[in-house]
Amino acid sequence: MICLGIESTAHTFGVGVVNDRGKILSDSRDMFVPKPGKGFVPKELADHHIEFAFKIVDDALKKSSLKLHDLDLIAFSQGPGIPNSLRIGAAAARFLATKFNKPLVGVNHPVAHIEIGKLNTGAKDPIVVYLSGGNTQIIAHVEGKYRVFGETEDIPVGNCFDVVAREISLPYPGGSNIEKFAKNGNYVELPYIVKGMDQSFSGIATAAVKKFKAGVRKEDICYSLQETCFAMLTEVTERAMAHTEKKEVLLVGGVAANKRLQEMMNKMCEERGAKMFVVDENFSGDNGTMIAWTGLLQYSTEKKQTKDTSIKQNWRTDEVKTIWI
Ligand code: ATP
Ligand code: FE2
Repeated sequence: MICLGIESTAHTFGVGVVNDRGKILSDSRDMFVPKPGKGFVPKELADHHIEFAFKIVDDALKKSSLKLHDLDLIAFSQGPGIPNSLRIGAAAARFLATKFNKPLVGVNHPVAHIEIGKLNTGAKDPIVVYLSGGNTQIIAHVEGKYRVFGETEDIPVGNCFDVVAREISLPYPGGSNIEKFAKNGNYVELPYIVKGMDQSFSGIATAAVKKFKAGVRKEDICYSLQETCFAMLTEVTERAMAHTEKKEVLLVGGVAANKRLQEMMNKMCEERGAKMFVVDENFSGDNGTMIAWTGLLQYSTEKKQTKDTSIKQNWRTDEVKTIWI
């Protein structure tokens, strides 16, 4: 069985083609990049996705040497995300499914990040640390669902990095530039905010910007921001492992690419006799492949298409019944 998956929850319009043995036949995507100093404007995202939707579908098909008739299934990211963005992917998916008479399944975006991470790394039953611009969640699979054990109380950690990067004049994407500058930094104190299993990053962002405006070097801001945020996340991840007795950690989402985060999590895992996995950089950011693969998992067990294909802006990870596990 072969599935074409469409991702469009936020900045990226992505299409992936995957078969039911987990072989990736193609991956194509284009990311909307806002003008320097600007954030995302939903209308601009929608315009971008409209412009690229069928170019990316065509490109993914061409790279896989397949035609639409050869596909068995269409999957799309149904939520959560920015409504203007989600709608374009959903519309493209509905169009293809109807025109070529293929079954259509809606996929939960965070669950797709987890499933591509497991496929890509071979992790079986990990504590999932999902860190991106839109999400910060510590997740474990318990009793038929991916349950959220801890999350941010305010802004996601990737967003915290992006906000600080913008304020200290580092270009987008903020996280990778923060990582670069952190290499030559020293520690200055920033607030460390963990409440139970939840974390808060907005106070840290504000404090970091304030220190920069008071004359602290960019490098020191970047270093301290990473040290503080990643220590908080490692602490909470360790507690989730102790509580669930799981022996694996899987880092997914755009921030998973950060080498310092990987180093800190890996040290914690080694001390506990556990194993750390990191999703490959090619699949840590938003992509259509993860949607295609999760669509296949869903459809191969459920054997039916999604009845209501309207977008689910606030669809939570723990609302999905993971019948394929
Ligand atoms: P989601 O929709 O799942 O929330 P997203 O829209 O934020 O995802 P991703 O591509 O998963 O998209 O993640 C992008 C985020 O990852 C940005 O906030 C970016 O700053 C951050 N990021 C990317 N590379 C790094 C890095 N090396 N270190 C830290 N953060 C990084
Ligand atoms: Fe994402």
